[in-house]
Amino acid sequence: FYRFCLEPVQGVPLMKPIVNDWKRVESFQARPDDFLIATYPKAGTTWMQEIIDLVLHEGDVEKTKRAPTHVRFPFLEICSPPPVPSGIDVLEKTPSPRLIKTHLPYLLVPKSFWEQNCKVIYVARNAKDNVVSYYYFDQMNKTQPDPGPWETYIEKFLRGDVAWGSWFDHVIGWWEAKAKHPILYIFYEDMKEDPKREIRKVMTFLEKNLSEDVLEKVVQHTSFKVMKENPMANYSSMPDYIMDHSSSPFMRKGEVGDWKNQFTDAQRKMFDEEYAKKMQGTDLNFKVQI
Ligand code: A3P
Repeated sequence: FYRFCLEPVQGVPLMKPIVNDWKRVESFQARPDDFLIATYPKAGTTWMQEIIDLVLHEGDVEKTKRAPTHVRFPFLEICSPPPVPSGIDVLEKTPSPRLIKTHLPYLLVPKSFWEQNCKVIYVARNAKDNVVSYYYFDQMNKTQPDPGPWETYIEKFLRGDVAWGSWFDHVIGWWEAKAKHPILYIFYEDMKEDPKREIRKVMTFLEKNLSEDVLEKVVQHTSFKVMKENPMANYSSMPDYIMDHSSSPFMRKGEVGDWKNQFTDAQRKMFDEEYAKKMQGTDLNFKVQI
């Protein structure tokens, strides 16, 4: 297997097979009852997918075990490199309501989602933990470009020279978009701090009314410990030549502040300076500050 190279679409580096399919992505026809989960990679996508699936199935764990997360019906990606199916063909044949996942920055999301006023849940994670998680993911996921050494990876991340582009443009773009569209913006750090509180927000947004018992079940089943052992959520069904779990498991640590084990003091300083420049002028604040 080989790692895909990146090519820009409107300045955003995307994996080649997605770029090749871009016309279809751009003209994708959303339906009014489509529901979108959007994230920058490694922000907690899988965690939120598991939560949404359970909330919609009112805590019925068996119903979420139909297939692994990456191929599970509701969470097809609009655009994903092979071997994960591009999603478009399948989505066109999928009955409503459809649940769709994307890592696209706001500006590249097919316009029909906004014309149809679709609901979106966005998950954001603080930049430092996000870059560390992405670095290990780029090592284990053999379809992503080779991350190279950490020292240079951190610079590429700050420049936005990684798949799906700049973390800054992503989190800020979606943050600003919520003034115009029905977007629930959730923070990974808040989910860690009080999962039940955040799951309640998801529940309300999805117009579901779950009892305390069911809510508690969702919290338990979507804990890091349980998901790490859940073959439907931990990507262990992906063959080694696509995801090499021996180099780093998909469910790696699931912590806030793990970046402290990775950054040198000099890297922290450099990152903080760049961060301050790039976040200037936005009112988007992450609780776990730099
Ligand atoms: P780490 O690499 O820091 O461990 P995504 O699903 O967007 O690819 O994000 C993956 C990251 O979310 C990984 O972070 C993974 O461990 C973490 N994660 C997944 N499920 C989680 C859970 N239930 N609780 C906390 N973190 C979780």
